[in-house]
Parts: sequence; structure tokens; C-alpha cells
Amino acid sequence: MKVLVTGGAGFIGSNLVDELAKKAHVIVLDNFSSGKKINVAHHEGKSNVTIVEGDIRDKGLLRQITKDVDVVYHLAVQCLRVSINDPEINHEVNATGTLNLCMAAHESRVRRFVYVSSSEVYGTALMAPMTESHPKEPTTVYGASKLAGEQYTLAYHRTYGMNAMVVIPFNTYGPREHYEGAHGEVIPKFVLRALNDEPPIIFGDGSQTRDFTYVSDTVRGIIHASACDEMIGQTVNIARGEEVSIRALAEKIYQRLGKQHILPQIEKSRPGDVQRHFAGVGKASELFGFRAAVGIDEGLDIFIEWFTSQGYDLGRLMKEDVVFNWETGK
Ligand SMILES: NC(=O)c1ccc[n+]([C@@H]2O[C@H](COP(=O)([O-])OP(=O)(O)OC[C@H]3O[C@@H](n4cnc5c(N)ncnc54)[C@H](O)[C@@H]3O)[C@@H](O)[C@H]2O)c1
Repeated sequence: MKVLVTGGAGFIGSNLVDELAKKAHVIVLDNFSSGKKINVAHHEGKSNVTIVEGDIRDKGLLRQITKDVDVVYHLAVQCLRVSINDPEINHEVNATGTLNLCMAAHESRVRRFVYVSSSEVYGTALMAPMTESHPKEPTTVYGASKLAGEQYTLAYHRTYGMNAMVVIPFNTYGPREHYEGAHGEVIPKFVLRALNDEPPIIFGDGSQTRDFTYVSDTVRGIIHASACDEMIGQTVNIARGEEVSIRALAEKIYQRLGKQHILPQIEKSRPGDVQRHFAGVGKASELFGFRAAVGIDEGLDIFIEWFTSQGYDLGRLMKEDVVFNWETGK
């Protein structure tokens, strides 16, 4: 079996590639804008992994690269924080890029097309838990562009009969997650700050919640969904199904690192920040028996152990990488 993973050098993509490469020939397509060569370096020279540096905005390349591919996993993305100050590139990559890939995948008659969407398509919870039928009212251009990608994917199923599906992960964390600049995510940022005796920066009052899902669960959910025939033309949430506030998250991390005496630094709310995310996980369980195995406490323990074993120069990362200004986008 031959599979294509767009965004395969990114955080979730590279973890997915590691799993898929155990059984398939994997082509990684990534322009390395936020993805890192080191995330896939251990596959270099292997006969069953091909790494292609290229862009999903290049239609000719997509036509070429999807030839003889059985399954497409589409994860390439420009992230949420980039969208705040550069909405256009979010649209070009996340929306138009997905349409480009649908066109190429259909032309190449791929057997399955798996679009990895985002819980940001829902906006904030109007009811909880949020099932797949929850209204989709994204608060950011990122969420809107991911929703456009969902709709192109499903339209290709409805109009052309492409065997396509939409998988919606909620906030995912784990090894290789970004800690740096605009791409940095809350868990690695809090860990890095705690290790440097700096306070966690909380935007708003910290009561906003997320459904944090460990990356091995997210990857397993994506793979199980892709193998499920009933998923064709369907959308499914992949999440732990556990709601954690940002304030509670900071407490858990600072406590684990013995830094509970450091109080949070409160900043004004971020533009478009979702207030509540709590996933309904029943559909994944019914259709393909998926249940996320790793709870937040266990997941934080594993992640902190991984992060602290990387030999990062923590002082340098704090000084050079993690400062991101919302007003300027720099
Ligand atoms: N991380 C999360 O918490 C989370 C939650 C829900 C959904 N998702 C979705 O999962 C997918 C992967 O997210 P991630 O967190 O691993 O992000 P990431 O930024 O680590 O990975 C995205 C990858 O896409 C690549 N890329 C960007 N633009 C490209 C282009 N034009 N052509 C080719 N490659 C390009 C980047 O270099 C990067 O390797 C995304 O589709 C995202 O919407 C992520």
C-alpha cells in the first residue's frame, strides 16, 4: 500500500508517518514552513519512506505525487496564530490547497482521501459535549479555512463519488509539538516557562477549556477512521472527551515541575479565542471502536519526561523562540 501524508514533517503528521511506515510505503509532502527535517530524519534512506519538499499550492506537483497512491492523509496547514495577522496565506494553503489536493486525488483515482480538520471549525461550544452535528461557527479565519477544506472534501464525495472523509481532532499534544513563536502551543510553552522559572502566560481569565488529546491517540484515531468503510462521506471527532481549563492546565504543569509557587501572568484575551471545547466522542466509538487511552495527567507526565530528555538549551529557547506579539504578529 502507498500512502501520501501532506504536512508529514509537522507535529501530528510526523507521528502519523512513524505509525504508517510500519506497514506502508509513505510519501511525505511538506514545504517545511513549520515542519522540521529532524521530525522525519530517522526515515531518510529507508526504502519505504519518500520525503518530498514541495507545496500543496503546486497543482502540477500534486498531480504527479498522487499517481499510484492508495490513501491520502491531508494534514498540511498554516496555523491559527498565523491566521490572525496573515489571513490570506491561511486561505491559500488551508482552503485552496485542499481543493487542489481534492482535484489531484480525484484525477489519480485514489482509493481513500482523509482530510484532517480541526475542532476550531466548531467555534466555541454552544452545547456540550460537542458532537459532530454541533453547529460550525468558526471564530477565526483559520477555523473558517479548515471548514472550507471540510466542505471541499465532502463535496468531492457527493459530486464525484470520491471515497473521502473528515476527521476532526481536538487540541493534540505530545512529542514534537511546537514550542516556538507563532506555532508554539500552550502545553510546551507552559513546560518551557516553568523550567525557566517564568510564570505561565494566561490570556483572559483562564476559564477557557480545551479537550487535550495525546498525539498517539490522535494518530490511532486517524488511522482507524481511514480504515473504516462506514466513514466514507462522514465526519468524526477524535478526542479524549475530557475538558480541562487553561488555568487548571497551568496548575498541573507547574505542580509537576515543583513550581506551583509561581503565579500566572494574566494578559488580555486573544482575538477569536474559543471559550469552551469539550468533544462528543460517541461516533468514533460506535463506528470503529475508538477510545482515547491517555488522560491529561498521564499524558502530561509522559510529555514532560520527553521534553526534558531532549537536551534543549532552555534559556536560549526562552530568549529567542517563544516570544510572540499578538499585536504585530511577530
Ligand atoms: N495540533 C493540534 O492541536 C491540532 C488540533 C486539531 C487539528 N489539527 C490539524 O492537524 C493537522 C496537523 O497539525 P499540526 O499541529 O501537526 O501542525 P504543524 O504546523 O506541525 O504541521 C503542518 C505541516 O504542514 C506543512 N505545510 C504548511 N504549509 C504547507 C504547504 N503549503 N505545502 C506543504 N506543506 C505545508 C508545515 O511545514 C508542517 O510540517 C492540521 O491540518 C491541523 O489543522 C491540529
